Amino acid sequence: MKQRISGFFEERIDLTVLRKWVKEKSVPQHKHSFWYYFGGLALFLITVQIITGILLALYYSPTPANANSSVRYIMENVKYGWLIRSIHFWGANFLVAVVFIHMFSTYFMKAYRKPREMMWVLGVLILLLVLGFTFTGYLLPWTTLSYFATKVGVNTPSVMPFFGKFITDLLQGGRGVGASTLTRMFTMHVVVLPLLAIVLISLHVLLSQVFGSSVPLSQRGRTGATRFFPDFLMRDAAVWAGGFAILLAMVTVFPASLGQKVNPILPAPLGIKPEWYFLFVFETLRRFPETIAIGAITLGIIIWLLVPFIDRRASREQKSPFFTLFGAAVLIYIISMTLIAYATT
Ligand code: HEM
Repeated sequence: MKQRISGFFEERIDLTVLRKWVKEKSVPQHKHSFWYYFGGLALFLITVQIITGILLALYYSPTPANANSSVRYIMENVKYGWLIRSIHFWGANFLVAVVFIHMFSTYFMKAYRKPREMMWVLGVLILLLVLGFTFTGYLLPWTTLSYFATKVGVNTPSVMPFFGKFITDLLQGGRGVGASTLTRMFTMHVVVLPLLAIVLISLHVLLSQVFGSSVPLSQRGRTGATRFFPDFLMRDAAVWAGGFAILLAMVTVFPASLGQKVNPILPAPLGIKPEWYFLFVFETLRRFPETIAIGAITLGIIIWLLVPFIDRRASREQKSPFFTLFGAAVLIYIISMTLIAYATT
């Protein structure tokens, strides 16, 4: 049977290149190889999000009248609905955390250096997409918290010169957050962002196959290699299983809750704050004048995106301690602003 199936393909396509790749692909083994698992884990988690998202979309209704009750229906009446929704909720949190770890680990290993510059650029765009998924998904249950937090979120760009108001109008789709905002967030969450994510992630993963894993300068000459098929893939699968087990543990101990349907006429409750991964942005906006804060964040993202082209020493295979310090400063800033926001709100 196996031979008949492979014979079927063999007669139609030349599989020699694929065979050679499968036979020869290997992953470098050294002191920091542990970090190589996070890209694969992100890929696994995004797949979980797509599958659970499709299942949720079968019952979800994107209108102010029905959004909240359709989510309640999923939680209370659909078989395993609470489980699917909770996996989607916790999976999003895990995905953001894993993508941040993957980003900073590749940063500190200087994996963005030549020839992987475009992998880095694609990576930063993917991170923005992942955050875009969380932002657009947040409004969908149409609860008091999700409504008023989104209101703050969509209004934030409006203080920016030139494009600011345009971005707010584009997200909001009318005066204030309302039915058209919900339609737009839903469309972005289930159509626009997934299409972009599939294209960008496919390119990112394709490039990772073309270039293979990079080896940090400090580990040059000290590496062994593990065959990808089946050895590394089996370890990858074990990491996915472990990640999924932790995800399921969180889901069963802390299933996703659902707040009350919003009444937009009532004033916003006190103490509205975003999810943990936006807290550093929130705190930056609280501490500095809005235009300066938004300008600095935008500039920061642009510099971060262009790091492989600015850090020429790394691309010439030389150590670049300044960029290690710069990355450490960014990381410390994000962590400390997040902690301050937690402690003071
Ligand atoms: C959903 C999001 C993402 C997925 C699914 C993903 C997937 C992957 C995979 C499968 C690899 C190869 C294995 C590895 O080295 O870990 C990889 C490598 C890489 N990724 Fe990502 N990635 C994502 C986000 C990002 C982000 C946000 C960045 C940085 C801004 C980034 C930068 C890189 C770089 C530079 C490499 C090369 C690592 C090396 O060769 O050592 N990725 N990614």
